[in-house]
Amino acid sequence: MNQSGAQPIPFSRSSSPALGRDVILSARGVVVGFGTKMVLENLDLDVYRGEVLGFVGGSGQGKSVLMRTILGLTPMKDGSISVFGKDLGEASAEERTAIERRWGVLFQQGALFSSLTVRQNVQFPMREHLKLSQRLQDELALLKIEMVGLPRDAAEKYPSELSGGMIKRAALARSLALDPDLVFLDEPTSGLDPIGAAEFDQLIYKLKETLGLTVYMVTHDLDSLHTVCDRIAVLAERKVLVTGTIDDMMHYDHPWVKEYFRGARALRRA
Ligand SMILES: Nc1ncnc2c1ncn2[C@@H]1O[C@H](COP(=O)(O)OP(=O)(O)OP(=O)(O)O)[C@@H](O)[C@H]1O
Ligand SMILES: [Mg+2]
Repeated sequence: MNQSGAQPIPFSRSSSPALGRDVILSARGVVVGFGTKMVLENLDLDVYRGEVLGFVGGSGQGKSVLMRTILGLTPMKDGSISVFGKDLGEASAEERTAIERRWGVLFQQGALFSSLTVRQNVQFPMREHLKLSQRLQDELALLKIEMVGLPRDAAEKYPSELSGGMIKRAALARSLALDPDLVFLDEPTSGLDPIGAAEFDQLIYKLKETLGLTVYMVTHDLDSLHTVCDRIAVLAERKVLVTGTIDDMMHYDHPWVKEYFRGARALRRA
């Protein structure tokens, strides 16, 4: 029994069998803190190729910190993280650049550069990583912009001229700029109305199906968890408390998990 009195579920328990699945991201024993305050302790997580993993947890629990740690933007005090089979702590500068080319990111804050148009935002990672002519970059950027369901004329607009939903789509287009294998999305549907959020969920699902993307999605959105996520990981008590399907979550005995998946808010959804 752990502190909360909940029965611990073995790591990676899931109705979809983990055996034989290709692990695209693996975190082991991750410890992250700021000063004396520990945010993550002894955290383990696996993400499988081709899945949409929904990452949930209370506000301030460390979801964004973990994403930033995986991306190498926040240092770890201990532990290891491997992506595409390579331990990031042991990767050379060239290996690191090669890995960064294979992932795309949509941050919770500051999704787009305000001084650049949508097209220039989408081209930003291309300029950093690819040597392409401007004409080719323009063509590719327009392709991504259309892929996320934005009209072509959005390309020459600045973020301040777009609605919240359009900004999310543009940020998604930028995360897809380099044809990634893996995308990290931090609260992609927050701030959208339910219809906008549902459309965004459908888009994520379509991209997963058509591009074979693996999606790591931090979310508070119960609808997203029900409709697009293959598996869910819950962050609580500074670690990944449990992973599994939505059905596993419905039966998991932990106060936060129960309240979140079966509490008043969850029932209103039904
Ligand atoms: N650079 C930093 N320096 C000090 N503390 C930080 C820093 N970044 C995050 N924290 C702290 O780490 C904790 C986890 O923050 P984080 O942003 O990961 O929460 P979250 O789970 O993403 O929450 P939300 O759902 O509200 O986005 C918070 O207490 C936050 O104040
Ligand atoms: Mg966050």
